[in-house]
Amino acid sequence: MGVARIAVLASGGGSNLQALIDRIAALGAGAPAEIALVISDRRAAGALERATRAGIPTAYVPASAPEGALEAALVDAQIDLIALAGYLRYIPVPVVQRFHARMVNIHPSLLPAFGGAGMHGMHVHRAVLAAGATESGATVHFVDEVFDRGPIAAQGRVPVLAGDDADTLAARVLTLEHRLFPWAVLALARGALALTDDGRVQGARLDLTLDSPLSD
Ligand code: GAR
Repeated sequence: MGVARIAVLASGGGSNLQALIDRIAALGAGAPAEIALVISDRRAAGALERATRAGIPTAYVPASAPEGALEAALVDAQIDLIALAGYLRYIPVPVVQRFHARMVNIHPSLLPAFGGAGMHGMHVHRAVLAAGATESGATVHFVDEVFDRGPIAAQGRVPVLAGDDADTLAARVLTLEHRLFPWAVLALARGALALTDDGRVQGARLDLTLDSPLSD
């Protein structure tokens, strides 16, 4: 694929986007990918600001945009891979199909636990605490037609500590996300991570922790 052209889709602050920007910058000429476009459904998303600061083209595609607008933006920018980093909208089926095996999402729990409709961001961490779970984590998975249910590419765990609230737990999970997300996206770009035609993940990394070696 040469240097893969990645689109990052984000609705929020964009700290995972930033982790990827920083990792690619650190790899310099050896990076297997470049972020060619950042798309948000929210004009005020911090992710758009971060992209602009890094000199990355941005697109604002609100929920009210005409059908096909998201796909058109991706096709126009000649995108090879999509990385969802806190993107809170359903991906239209034609986009899921076009980017089959070429789109991953990061989710702040140990999927399949605490996934599905309505489970995003702080809602996830509150639900984990309410359930009395002793550990949580983050998952990167390939995106298919079912929300949060695609084949798992990378997963790591963190402890839930006595006295945690949703903010402290979110911060611990985010630290892990900032390792998992760039690793998975760049491994996909290098071909070290792949979804086979029969739906198996090659090169998956499961059971990671905040300390596991994770080099790319
Ligand atoms: C992250 O915790 C990500 O896992 C979560 O949104 C946050 C975005 O943070 N994604 C979901 O909940 C998807 N269901 P960021 O904007 O700082 O990267």
